[in-house]
Amino acid sequence: MSEKIRYAVMVSGGGTNLQAIIDAQAAGKIPHGELALVVSNVEDAYALERARKAGIPAVAITKKGFTDHEAFEEEMIRQLDAAGIEFIVLAGFLAILSEEFVKHWERRIINIHPSLIPSFCGAGFYGLKVHEAALAKGVKISGATVHFVNEIPDGGEIILQKAVRIYPKDTPEKLQLRIMKQAEWVILPKATEICCRELAEAKKK
Ligand code: GRF
Repeated sequence: MSEKIRYAVMVSGGGTNLQAIIDAQAAGKIPHGELALVVSNVEDAYALERARKAGIPAVAITKKGFTDHEAFEEEMIRQLDAAGIEFIVLAGFLAILSEEFVKHWERRIINIHPSLIPSFCGAGFYGLKVHEAALAKGVKISGATVHFVNEIPDGGEIILQKAVRIYPKDTPEKLQLRIMKQAEWVILPKATEICCRELAEAKKK
């Protein structure tokens, strides 16, 4: 086995996607990666608790302590670099990342979005708003997408997608949960391994 890729998961909330990665890692399904750090931009995010329970180093870096967004990002970059992070998974991370941050890990940051991109994505489409828009349009299929992060919101190259049925009596909350269970928690750990394997192979060359 080649050297593992040290990766971080960045979160803002409950961390169910993080949990799916922790579980996949424990089950040996991400053999090319090592989850080395969890970063939250929300101090009391339950995701931090999940990381600590799994014995993974976890830090909260909030905007509060910094004069501006740039200083806040500089601190995130400093801590990620100090932990030797080569690859980043955004799992419900709600802060906007600057072009500078994205360039620092070019093609090394992925994100999960709860729709089939290019539908219901881009600026303003987050959380329940995505599912409200899908139901309002009357689409019969939605799903989730894992994509690379670039300077365009939800605009980077697509890595994996999974479709999920919509039913007539769906509410945004019901649809959100079904998409998480059937799609997000499945494709995010898979995409993490795909990217870690590619990065590990590129390192060997
Ligand atoms: C997920 O629906 C994800 O697609 C979105 O935010 C939610 C995060 O949930 N970007 P969790 O914190 O992983 O439970």
